[in-house]
Amino acid sequence: MKNKPLSPLFNLDVFQREAKIKNGFFQKDILSVDQFGKDDLDYIFARAEEMAEMVNRWGACDLLKSYTLACVFYEPSTRTSSSFIAAMERLGGKVIPITEGIQYSSVSKGESLIDSMLTLEQYCDLIVLRHPEIGSSAQAAKYAHVPIINAGDGAGEHPTQALLDLFTIQKELGRIDGLKVAMVGDLRYGRTVHSLTKLLAQYDVSLRFVSPDTLRLPLDLMNELIDRGIKVRETSKVADVIENADVLYVTRIQKERFSDLVQYDEIKDYFEITTELMTQAKQKMIVMHPLPRVGEIQYNVDKDPRAAYFRQVQNGMFIRMALLAAVLGQA
Ligand code: NCD
Repeated sequence: MKNKPLSPLFNLDVFQREAKIKNGFFQKDILSVDQFGKDDLDYIFARAEEMAEMVNRWGACDLLKSYTLACVFYEPSTRTSSSFIAAMERLGGKVIPITEGIQYSSVSKGESLIDSMLTLEQYCDLIVLRHPEIGSSAQAAKYAHVPIINAGDGAGEHPTQALLDLFTIQKELGRIDGLKVAMVGDLRYGRTVHSLTKLLAQYDVSLRFVSPDTLRLPLDLMNELIDRGIKVRETSKVADVIENADVLYVTRIQKERFSDLVQYDEIKDYFEITTELMTQAKQKMIVMHPLPRVGEIQYNVDKDPRAAYFRQVQNGMFIRMALLAAVLGQA
């Protein structure tokens, strides 16, 4: 059956469906940064560099032209959803976007997450999922027959963001070992902080955590860091860490995770990175932010060459191109 020639209808354009490269990610779900050891990170970063070079030279290619991705977002997103779409399209693939229109999909009629996954997988080769509940991607992956990529599960994890964050640090500062990284903002609910912290813990780094008392890093994560021998310090003021930081990783207070909005209002303007504050920072350091920002970094700071957050956005597309190609056995 397999060797029977295809109908002449398809002769002009036979798509390649064979997996070329069966690396450790081939057909795997990407649910947590715990799946990535240092060798895996090096592998993905090297592929991401190649993707950047391809985009700079040609803009797009047809590596994934026989593949379709469903991009399913049950929570708002600008960067993560559009960078997955851009990544797939620059590799020649197709996308079913279920993002802005989630209110028009059957989810609004009460369809369960699992039924939506079991339906969408009939149309695609891979699903990228963002959902407000911790563990939702793992749950989806248990039932789905195509790989699931976690694009944020509530206050849980955001592995692809952490990969692009680490890639950005490596690219901007040339190394990860030996760095002092300060995480600022909503460390309790910020999933990007949770994932990046876990990845950084594989390296020889010192970590500073800056937050209001009510939004400190979850205790289990803090204990994990201490058990792994990572140097950690907690404070409530950016001024305590800015002089020594190689990386200042700023995040917004996650309004949507508060059950009591009075509590949110009390701390929403807790800190702001200003040009004046930046005069205390080292000459060679970077300010990062997963974005969106809602007042944590003054717009004036954008002109400072140390402001790396929009370069970080661009790296996101290259990292996601590398991951999509790896999971589909093409990189
Ligand atoms: C983050 C997210 O969704 O967790 N944004 C992103 O993916 N770039 C950060 C946030 O929403 O604050």
